[in-house]
Amino acid sequence: MKKDLLNVYDLELADFEKIWAKAKRLKKSLKEGKSHASLKGKTLGMIFDKSSTRTRISFEVGMYQLGGIALFLNSRDTQIGRGETISDSARMMSRYLNGIMIRTFAQKSVEELAHYASIPVINGLTDLLHPCQILSDLFTIKEKKASYDKLKIVYIGDGNNIANTWIEAAARLPIELALACPEGYDPDRKIMARGKKEAKEGITLYRDPFEAAKNADVLYTDVWVSMGQESEKEERKKIFKNYQINKRLLKEAKKDAIVMHCLPAHRGEEISSDVIEGSQSVVIDQAENRLHVQKAILEILL
Ligand code: CP
Ligand code: NVA
Repeated sequence: MKKDLLNVYDLELADFEKIWAKAKRLKKSLKEGKSHASLKGKTLGMIFDKSSTRTRISFEVGMYQLGGIALFLNSRDTQIGRGETISDSARMMSRYLNGIMIRTFAQKSVEELAHYASIPVINGLTDLLHPCQILSDLFTIKEKKASYDKLKIVYIGDGNNIANTWIEAAARLPIELALACPEGYDPDRKIMARGKKEAKEGITLYRDPFEAAKNADVLYTDVWVSMGQESEKEERKKIFKNYQINKRLLKEAKKDAIVMHCLPAHRGEEISSDVIEGSQSVVIDQAENRLHVQKAILEILL
């Protein structure tokens, strides 16, 4: 595997399998109460420029369970927040730490950090991508559906970091991806162009969520308003109002379709309360798997 995990393209086919096989073993051994201190003495720095519940907890607990420690570095409390350069931060942190996980705004900042750091850098979400999320979601799909081969994954909503990362995944793996986004809120143009060219089973962008959802094996959504877009909230609520996973939309999907959401969710916006609480929703298992999959990533990279 490459030194860093900045996007899905950083992974070769064999890397996906390696991560999931390890995650499966780590999950099993944790459930059996076995300790597995493979990262004893190792340290992960976690830089956060945005809020987080799952990413912070799963990385921090993951490091602890593997025998290492994680440091929560809120950029407001570090010199990064006062303008210390990424290059200085990266080189200096490389002398203390064994790895860095970063959640920030610009993908370019993560790339710069990785360029200057001699230790692995893991993208814990940017405005553009959220690779740890989709890697662990694919693991969840494998658990629920045995395999993701040829499955139809339907993403409803904003063409944001989650949508972009699904496109990268569909360029690498044999999944069929359909997205339904309102006009003006499409996924990143470059990511879409490359994704379409390299897609194994096709990537299609729809305007109509009902058309996209036909025969879905997985119905997936994310918030209408991502972190950093708070000022657009009222406008977005109007534009996205028909882009909701609800009972009516679920009828278009296969009978055994599963419903996924990276969380946090806004009931009554991108997903209805009855569907997220319903029998087809796997969102809590999905959140749990962040822990197991990221532990696998940490073990491989660190
Ligand atoms: N899904 C996800 O990354 O959640 P957090 O924002 O809580 O980390
Ligand atoms: N698209 C969301 C994902 C949160 C995990 C955001 O960027 O806020």
